[in-house]
Amino acid sequence: MCGIVGYTGKALALSPLLEGLRKLEYRGYDSAGIALVTAAGEKLWIEKRAGKLGNLEEILGDKVPNSHCGIGHTRWATHGGPTDENAHPHLDNEGKLAVIHNGIIENYLELRKSLEEAGHIFNSETDSESVAHLLSDARKEHKGDLAAAMRQVCKELRGSFTILAIHSDEPGRIVGARRNSPLVVGIGNGENFLASDVSAFISYTKRALELGQDEVADITAETIVITDLAGNVMNQNEYEISWDASAAERGGFEHFMLKEIFEQPKAIADTLLGRIKGFNSEILKGIDLDGIEKVVIVACGTAFNAGLVGKYAIEKWANIAVDVELASEYRYRDPSVDKNTLVIPISQSGETMDTLMALRFAKNKGARIFAVCNTSGSTIPRESDAVLYTHAGPEIAVASTKAFETQLVAMYLIGLHLGRIRGTISAELIAEIESELAELPGKVEQVLETVEPLRELTRKFTSAASMLFLGRHVGFPTALEGALKLKELAYMHAEGFAGGELKHGPIALIENGTPVVAIMPAAGSLLAEKMASNIQEVKARGAVVIAIADSGFEAADYLVRIPTTHEFLQPVLAVVPLQVIAYEMAVARGNDVDQPRNLAKSVTVE
Ligand code: F6R
Repeated sequence: MCGIVGYTGKALALSPLLEGLRKLEYRGYDSAGIALVTAAGEKLWIEKRAGKLGNLEEILGDKVPNSHCGIGHTRWATHGGPTDENAHPHLDNEGKLAVIHNGIIENYLELRKSLEEAGHIFNSETDSESVAHLLSDARKEHKGDLAAAMRQVCKELRGSFTILAIHSDEPGRIVGARRNSPLVVGIGNGENFLASDVSAFISYTKRALELGQDEVADITAETIVITDLAGNVMNQNEYEISWDASAAERGGFEHFMLKEIFEQPKAIADTLLGRIKGFNSEILKGIDLDGIEKVVIVACGTAFNAGLVGKYAIEKWANIAVDVELASEYRYRDPSVDKNTLVIPISQSGETMDTLMALRFAKNKGARIFAVCNTSGSTIPRESDAVLYTHAGPEIAVASTKAFETQLVAMYLIGLHLGRIRGTISAELIAEIESELAELPGKVEQVLETVEPLRELTRKFTSAASMLFLGRHVGFPTALEGALKLKELAYMHAEGFAGGELKHGPIALIENGTPVVAIMPAAGSLLAEKMASNIQEVKARGAVVIAIADSGFEAADYLVRIPTTHEFLQPVLAVVPLQVIAYEMAVARGNDVDQPRNLAKSVTVE
């Protein structure tokens, strides 16, 4: 959460900073702010405003002084409400040093107390401001060396952080540090960048460096020095960013979310590429699977729902027990995990703190860790024994769509691979499923053809108080995902249920006109009959039923057709209409589709 960007170089800093903030706003949008070095030894120029970046841009006008070095921040509030005062950057009491921070400083109360006792005046309620005051003192101790000060201060901090700092006595220099929170260096020509992720500077440079845990980056327009906290210079591998700047643009779509829904066929195809039809054995390379007795999937939100689908597929194909755990709960309940457990953290961002902590917990117990992740070089894959990257490309909308689809594909690939090496699935069935997998991009294309009529249908329900989603088998996690999307985007009550569970309580929610979305199992299957009965039960109580089905289903009030596929793969197709319903409901209700209230894309706090 919180987006961080720093620029130093030949250009005027304002424009790359604002562009960086625009790209990083998905990480939090409670406030935005910028600090610039205007003249050596002078007070820094600073402007910050509560609310979205647009609020800050409105007041900037043409009053911004020329500067070639500055930092910018977009906030997801943790300590202190979303006010102008709590917005970053935070200054020291001389107004010459500015700090921006992402994460949580866990010992901030004790730090603040002793700083106040020493005479520092605080102007915000944040945990982050303590860092500005600490750095100010430490810099004096280190004879005006901001990087040395940063190394010292990091040792005093507990918690997670990415910090950037500038000081007007050292114009042109930006110092950054990270622990459990991301920071990348963008290497330009006569200019350099520091940012939470590469999208912030992709239109300026495709060359990047990642920082390791507890490392400090000290940059000017021409130099980049990375050290550990003891001051030892670290060698960092430079890499080339593989995607294009245009991938992070809306490209004519009204919203990033809609664009990303339409990118799903390509994302699925890219994730499958080179991993089926003879290549599947490559995917768990780098991990010893001998003696694995169970699989534990740890994830949050949408990634958790993908994990639930994975459980059905992996258990069936590989005949091995699979637990799916909410990462935020996992390490707090003394779960049974040891060296014979294969733990699979699933994460789009690769930075989700809950998932990272679950991973570390399992690793400490000796488990083998195989990550599924969309962001190369992020913390979760770095700390895992091996990784299967999904190739969804950058997902900018806060609500996950194409990343979910590719996480499902990853689950199927892992299920097939485990089944093959355990000898629990026949070569014929593998071939059949792989053929179905290969057809998914085309079939998702077909579902996308229903988007316009579905948007129209959704508008009939915009004033509904609540919407329920029903599914059975893999349709159940699909229903959970449909409800999650609707909650986060439309801000309306939504719940997903297993069809058979309804009569055990939730059916009391149904009243005249309640919209119920039913994800129908494949036509002709036993479960399709069971689900048909569940639908009759809700219809008898006044529900209006929208069925997502691969064939006609007379009992439904409305039918959304999806192509037929292998029963385990159906969520890949069935979730698309659910994403569209949530999208359209948000549009119709006037909500911010790409940046829904209270959320952030990358949840780097516990
Ligand atoms: C929902 C959504 C979240 C994320 C969750 C995990 O649309 O995006 O529920 O799925 O915060 O994030 P990652 O996958 O980055 O670990």
